[in-house]
Amino acid sequence: MNNDVSTSIVIFGASGDLTQRKLIPSLFNLCRKGRLPKDFCILGFGGTQFTDDQFRTHLLEGAKKFAGFQFTDAEWSDFARNLSYLQGHYAEKGDFQRLADVLSKLEGGNGNRVYYMAVPPTVFPTIVENLDATGQLHENGGWRRVVLEKPFGTDLASAVQLNQQVHKALTENQIYRIDHYLGKETVQNILFTRFANTIYEPIWNRMYVDNVQITVAEEVGVEHRGGFYDSVGVLRDMFQNHLLQLLTLVAMEPPASFSASHLRNEKVKVLSAIQPMTPEQVPLNTVRAQYKGYREEPDVKSNSTTPTFGALRLSVNNWRWQGVPFYLRSGKKLAEKKSQIIIQFKEPPLAMFPMQTMKPNLLVLYLQPDEGVHLRFEAKAPDTVAETRPVDMEFHYAEAFGQTAIPEAYERLLLDVLQGDASLFTRADEVEMAWGLIDPILQTWEAHQAPPLAVYKPESWGPPEADILLARDGRRWINEEGGHVG
Ligand code: BG6
Repeated sequence: MNNDVSTSIVIFGASGDLTQRKLIPSLFNLCRKGRLPKDFCILGFGGTQFTDDQFRTHLLEGAKKFAGFQFTDAEWSDFARNLSYLQGHYAEKGDFQRLADVLSKLEGGNGNRVYYMAVPPTVFPTIVENLDATGQLHENGGWRRVVLEKPFGTDLASAVQLNQQVHKALTENQIYRIDHYLGKETVQNILFTRFANTIYEPIWNRMYVDNVQITVAEEVGVEHRGGFYDSVGVLRDMFQNHLLQLLTLVAMEPPASFSASHLRNEKVKVLSAIQPMTPEQVPLNTVRAQYKGYREEPDVKSNSTTPTFGALRLSVNNWRWQGVPFYLRSGKKLAEKKSQIIIQFKEPPLAMFPMQTMKPNLLVLYLQPDEGVHLRFEAKAPDTVAETRPVDMEFHYAEAFGQTAIPEAYERLLLDVLQGDASLFTRADEVEMAWGLIDPILQTWEAHQAPPLAVYKPESWGPPEADILLARDGRRWINEEGGHVG
C-alpha cells in the first residue's frame, strides 16, 4: 500500500468528549514525537457548528487539561494547522459528498484514510453506508481503515448484525475495533512477561497455578454517564471487553508470532474453551451488585436494577487450565482504583518446617495505577527457628523507566492503525465469542433476577456475596494491604 501519499484522519463525533480528552491529545503527542506521517490532516466531522478556529480552540482547551505532558505553544501551532472541521449529519448523503470534496482538496491527489467512529454504535452502519455510497471506501491509490469504538453491540445478536452491516462495505482487515485496555503498556506486558522470559512459562499451567484473579476496580461512580450506564451495566461495560481480553492474554497459548492473525487466533481459542453458562450455573458462578446510592445518581432510574459490580467464576476447559478457576471482578465506587492480575500458585506439597503458616506464592501483574510486577515468596524470618514471612520482589515501571514512560493507551492504538497493525484490536469472531459468554449471564440476571442483586457500600471491595463465591471453593480474594498484597 502507498505510504508516500498524504494521510487523512477523519473523526466522526469530533465535538464529543472522547475526541477532546483522548484522541487529539494522543495524536498531538504522536506528532511531537515525529511519529505521524509527514503529510497528514485531521478532519473533524460532527453535528455541532464550529469554524476551524473554534474547533482548534476547543481542542487546545482539552489538550491543556488532559494531555498529561508539558507542551509549548509552538508545538501546538505546528500540530493545529493540520486540524479542520466540517459540520454535517451522519444520515445525509449530501454531507458525505461534501466530505469527499473537502478531503480530496486537502489531499491534493490520492490519500490514505482513517475513519474514526467516536459515535454511538447505532450510527456506525449509517456512516459506513454513506462513505461507501460516496466512493470513499475504495482503495484506489491509498488505503482505507475504519476504527470502531466500543461498545460493539449490546448482546450477541446486535454484535452479529453490526458485523454483517459493516462487512457489506469493508473487509475485516480494514476494521479496527478498539478495546483501549489492549493499548495499555501493562496489558501488553502480560505477553512480554510470559513470552520474553523463560522462567514463567513452564509453571504457567494447572500443575502449578491454583487460581487466577483478575480485578478491575474503580473508585469513581457513574459520574455524568448515569443515563448511558444505567442501560448497560457492568457486564456489558467492562466484562465483555476489558476483563475477557485480560483473561485471554493470561490464558492463551504462545502464538507462533506477534502478527495480528496469530495473536487473535490464540485469543479466540481461549474464549472457545470457556463453556457458556447454563441458567442453573449462573447463580452459582456469578455475583451482581449495586452500590448504595446508585439510584440517586443523575439520570439513573429510581428503581434501577442495573449492576455496578460483577464477579464471575470461569473455567477454561483445555489441557493447560482444566480445574483452575479464573475469578473476575469489576465495579464502580470500590475502595480504590486498581487493576491487577494475580496468579496464585499451589502450596508446597509437604509442610516440612515445624511452625509453618505459609502463604502461597503470588505473581501480581499491576496494570494500574502503580504499574509493575511483584513476586511474593516465603523467606525465613531472622532469629527464629523455622518461621517464614511472605516478602515481595517488586518491579515498578516508574522506578525502572521514569515517571513519564507510560503513554496513553490511545497513542499506541492510533499509531497501530496508521501502520496497519491490527494485533491490539478485536476481530469479529472474537467479539462475537465474548458476547456468547456474556449473553447467557445477562439473560439470567435480567429475566430471572438470579442471583439476587446484592448491595455494597461505597469504598468497599464489593458485597459479601463476592467473598462467598470464592469461599465456596475454599479461597479468598487477595486485596492489597499496606502496599503489599495481603
Ligand atoms: C470504559 C468504561 O471502557 O473503561 C468506563 O466504559 C470505565 O465505565 C473505563 O470507567 C475504565 O477505563 P480505565 O482506563 O480508566 O481503567
